[in-house]
Amino acid sequence: MNPKISFRRVSRTYPLKDSVFTALDEVDLDIGDEEFVTVVGPSGCGKSTLLSLAAGLTAPTGGEVLVDGEPATGPGPDRGVIFQQYALFPWLTVRGNVEFGLKLASVPRAERRRRAEHAIDLVGLSDFADALPKTLSGGMKQRCAIARAYAVNPRVLLMDEPFGALDALTRVRLQDRLLDTWSRERRTVLFVTHDVDEAVYLARRVVVMAARPGRIHSVVDVDLPYPRTEAIRLSPEFARIRNTVWQAVYHQSPAASAL
Ligand SMILES: Nc1ncnc2c1ncn2[C@@H]1O[C@H](COP(=O)(O)OP(=O)(O)OP(=O)(O)O)[C@@H](O)[C@H]1O
Ligand SMILES: [Mg+2]
Repeated sequence: MNPKISFRRVSRTYPLKDSVFTALDEVDLDIGDEEFVTVVGPSGCGKSTLLSLAAGLTAPTGGEVLVDGEPATGPGPDRGVIFQQYALFPWLTVRGNVEFGLKLASVPRAERRRRAEHAIDLVGLSDFADALPKTLSGGMKQRCAIARAYAVNPRVLLMDEPFGALDALTRVRLQDRLLDTWSRERRTVLFVTHDVDEAVYLARRVVVMAARPGRIHSVVDVDLPYPRTEAIRLSPEFARIRNTVWQAVYHQSPAASAL
């Protein structure tokens, strides 16, 4: 089967005053249709850059990024992005923010309302649907941004540390809800996180990146069945895979181990 997303020798450089900075260096990666892949690595190794390339928001300076076999030359409704810096419209309520993308996609009003309610419920914000962002906590704003991406129901979800601002309990809940939705609706998910446990719990494969230049260090298969449960999270097999990923992230270079 053809991959959903393909990075083929993808590089991204940025010009500096008198040199060139390589944010990503010749990345090769295929993500299968309906696969769940997580990305971990030290700060600055190019995780957000990788996601932004898949979203078509950044162009590669070398190689190519293909989505369904076609170059990703711009963003599309097939790919929903949750940014590391979530941005909500301050003048719209939670519901207004979640419905916004649906409006752009010309979804009729009743259907818009239904899908927004469902997405808001998934992230546990139903009691705050009429609240303005300024009255929400950081974690609630983040959940609103997640609901906005879920509502559009894209085939591909590109998530950049979406659960970063959440408390541990909400985080675990949203991990389970995301896996639930993924297994029912079968999307392709590319998910960036700093949290090694989260990376292993969610994914079929964990991509470990290295910095300077940003590149793929290794790819770790997570040979654990779905649905993932607390029993799996506590199993020796889980611990073994987590340790493998941990070693790869934190002992790959002096810069990484200093984190
Ligand atoms: N527009 C830009 N101009 C110059 N350098 C950039 C630009 N965008 C990103 N970079 C550099 O590219 C590198 C990779 O950035 P990126 O945001 O992808 O890292 P990251 O892995 O997501 O880090 P973090 O874990 O901190 O979010 C960084 O060193 C960053 O400084
Ligand atoms: Mg980032």
